[in-house]
Amino acid sequence: MNTIIGIDLGTSTTEAAVIRDGKPEIILNFDEEKVTPSVVGTDDSGNILVGGAALARQMIAPENTVIEIKRKMGLKERVRLGKTDFTPEQISAQILSYVRRFASEYTGEDITRAVISVPAYFDEIQRQATVEAGRQAGFTVERILNEPTAAALSYGLSHLDEESHILVYDLGGGTFDVTLLEMFGGVLEVKASNGDNQLGGKDFDQKLIDFLLDQFKKKNEIDLRKDVYAMARLKSEAVKCKIALSTVEQTEVIIPMIAEKDGKPLALEEIVTRKQFEDMIKELVERTHDPVDVVLNDSGISEEDLDMVLLVGGSTRIPIIKEDIAKYLGKEPVQAVDPDYAVAEGAAIQAGILSGGLDEDKSLVMTDVNPYTLGIRALSGYDFDYMSVIIPRNTTIPVTREETYYTSWDGQTQAIIEVFQGESSTASDNHHLGTFHIGGIPEREAGKEKIKVAFSYNLNGMLNVSATIASTGNAADITIDMLNRDKEQRMDVSGWKKSELAGDFRTLIRRCEKWLSSKKGDKQNKEEAEEYLYLLKKAIIEGDGTEADIYEDEIRALMEE
Ligand SMILES: Nc1ncnc2c1ncn2[C@@H]1O[C@H](COP(=O)(O)OP(=O)(O)OP(=O)(O)O)[C@@H](O)[C@H]1O
Ligand SMILES: [Mg+2]
Repeated sequence: MNTIIGIDLGTSTTEAAVIRDGKPEIILNFDEEKVTPSVVGTDDSGNILVGGAALARQMIAPENTVIEIKRKMGLKERVRLGKTDFTPEQISAQILSYVRRFASEYTGEDITRAVISVPAYFDEIQRQATVEAGRQAGFTVERILNEPTAAALSYGLSHLDEESHILVYDLGGGTFDVTLLEMFGGVLEVKASNGDNQLGGKDFDQKLIDFLLDQFKKKNEIDLRKDVYAMARLKSEAVKCKIALSTVEQTEVIIPMIAEKDGKPLALEEIVTRKQFEDMIKELVERTHDPVDVVLNDSGISEEDLDMVLLVGGSTRIPIIKEDIAKYLGKEPVQAVDPDYAVAEGAAIQAGILSGGLDEDKSLVMTDVNPYTLGIRALSGYDFDYMSVIIPRNTTIPVTREETYYTSWDGQTQAIIEVFQGESSTASDNHHLGTFHIGGIPEREAGKEKIKVAFSYNLNGMLNVSATIASTGNAADITIDMLNRDKEQRMDVSGWKKSELAGDFRTLIRRCEKWLSSKKGDKQNKEEAEEYLYLLKKAIIEGDGTEADIYEDEIRALMEE
């Protein structure tokens, strides 16, 4: 079947929606709930538990429970669950697989296609990790959609005729996103996005936890930090306390028998006022201002031109957050969408646009922006590692941009085009996305030959980079599928030893592999060398000796640094 569902894979909770009768409908999970905790755990026999069942066991078996995995997406780190180590993708895949099962049950179809939302400020590595998690869960991920854009879609569907500039302020469990959108005649245009991947409700919880721990230590001279069971209960009570303080002025945290002293059980009892809590999170709240400034700046839209500030994400229920943004922008924010469901609904709307499940008269057209700068490594003056920008951040996509470069030395016949994403002016500080090589440049004086480099980036996350030698028209290109950049898609280069060229490079490859597995050397250099090693083996298999020589030189230079 063709149904595509929308999924909001959140830091603390996950929701899914599907288009029914032209409108998004939230899908109920196996517990008949609309909201599924983003929690994965194991039971006593080692079976995987997801959602409510895993959350319930967190208190009794915290070491067998993983929470807030979204914060680790894209990192090489592993998390332990029982006796096994998992990648963040594998844990998220468990959540998504659970969603796939309950969505299939709910719709009575075998659901295999999804639009998954991510924070606008997720970089490509984090986006790819999300796609990989979806793939492992048995989904074809049709589109990765920015969460604030999704929220705006869910708002836009019922306000198609309005013309306005909307600032979406999305503060969730673990991430903060600000997005500026322009809406007119059913077209929703994203003007700019910015945010903080490590800011959200979880950080507010931590401030409360730290406060409670300190108070307990002051009173009882006991540090609860090392006690995983006490910490799990404390976390759960801190969340309850925080949520209570959104509606009442003060609340009491009571955790009986949290520790023992001289054979007697001790309770944690502490009154926390809203004012105290507000003081604890003051600095964090102020951190939201920077991304707001960047978005206003990049979009060229001033505060006065804003028609609406749309609040999304559970943490925007905290009164001080609303007051702060109202004061900062001089405009009352509105909660026009349901902060819990808007993102999943928007993802379902995007799914409906893709599969044609939406009503004919509700045609919505959407553009988005690339949240990070894209460019190539180039020579600039004496800087060999300069990030030459081709598509600046917050450019509306789909987009094609071209830049012209010149040969750097006399008789240069080749160039390596290395594609990077990020905001640093030093290329190697950014994420390396791909590398290719163009040969056949006519031998002339430095600066006499032109190479045109063009970047095309579309809404499906496909980035095509091409290089063309102006004088000959000779061209080479690479397509980086930002959504499906898993390793399997790469060529299997393990058979390089069988190639005739292998002998010339065997010693270097062995040395490089040894170096990569050793503890020596800079991490960034090693990542680059790993990429070159792949390209070298590929060139050897393809029998391209000149290209292999180039990669050999790069590897040598990196190992010597
Ligand atoms: N009434 C409330 N007052 C304060 N905080 C709340 C309230 N309700 C929910 N939260 C907090 O909101 C957060 C969850 O929000 P939401 O579901 O939007 O986030 P998420 O989608 O899981 O995370 P993210 O979008 O960052 O990945 C949690 O930190 C939760 O404690
Ligand atoms: Mg969210």
